[in-house]
Amino acid sequence: MKESSTNEHRHLQGKFALVTGGSRGIGRGIALKLAEKGAAVAINYIQDEAAALDTLAKVQERGAEGFIVRADVSQPDEIASMVSQVREKFGALDIFVNNALGNLLGFMSPPMQVTLEQWDEAFHSQARAFFVGVREVADLMRDDGRIVTISYWPGSHLGGFLPYFAMGSNKAALEAMCRYYAVALAPRGITVNAICAGITDDSIVNRLPQEAQEAMLSWLRSGWTPMGRPGTPTDIGGAVATLCAEDAGWITGQTIVADGGASLMSPEVPLDFQRP
Ligand SMILES: NC(=O)c1ccc[n+]([C@@H]2O[C@H](COP(=O)([O-])OP(=O)(O)OC[C@H]3O[C@@H](n4cnc5c(N)ncnc54)[C@H](OP(=O)(O)O)[C@@H]3O)[C@@H](O)[C@H]2O)c1
Repeated sequence: MKESSTNEHRHLQGKFALVTGGSRGIGRGIALKLAEKGAAVAINYIQDEAAALDTLAKVQERGAEGFIVRADVSQPDEIASMVSQVREKFGALDIFVNNALGNLLGFMSPPMQVTLEQWDEAFHSQARAFFVGVREVADLMRDDGRIVTISYWPGSHLGGFLPYFAMGSNKAALEAMCRYYAVALAPRGITVNAICAGITDDSIVNRLPQEAQEAMLSWLRSGWTPMGRPGTPTDIGGAVATLCAEDAGWITGQTIVADGGASLMSPEVPLDFQRP
């Protein structure tokens, strides 16, 4: 009895995963959750090798294998080289998580001010990286594989947070691409979905100016996130690992929001009217 519940707990045993931007923040939470569930994890990073090695050590503490792989996902040739290292080390792939952030703080700019360079930078690290990434991993991926991209629901569906314009447009593109890739890869049992993380602690949010961080986090805690707290990388890792389970094989092409209920709140009605 004990043994079978342990096996259930490690439902991704024998699977091979690649997480882009797996060294820090949400990507680290995803890498660690997949490792906890038994998957071997390739941890991609761009410049923070120490963080990637630290994540690898934590993957290994969870009894899983892994390795780190430096690649800038904005560069198609570097994506190709990352995937060939995965082929060399793992020989196969079951889970591809498109998570890397890109230089968000460099391309945050309102719609009427964003430069062509900023627009391209956002596109190269998001929609184009996913376009190239899926095409590169497709051959290596075994049947019944899982592809997950990380998105942000208010960015892809709303328009109020103006500096998020280039990123939000790309997040919308990622979600659309999931639907097309889902149909294209369905004959092989490969599912393709987007998880929209809500505002998450221990992530890019913690690199914003202190005042902005505090304003955002206290807003969420005030009730605009019904669960009363920001998300954690572990929360998002849990959502991704759930989609990677064998039993989730019928869910494909979907955009799933994991935000503690934040997207359920109405901006048109005072918060006090929305409290339970
Ligand atoms: N934070 C949130 O509240 C939130 C909410 C919704 C969605 N998201 C999404 O979640 C994802 C992760 O964001 P985060 O907040 O966790 O970011 P983060 O803590 O700043 O971590 C960024 C990760 O991406 C890697 N990276 C950045 N640019 C890269 C590139 N060009 N090529 C390869 N790797 C690159 C970084 O590697 P190094 O360690 O080497 O720098 C790091 O591992 C993003 O897609 C973001 O849009 C975040």
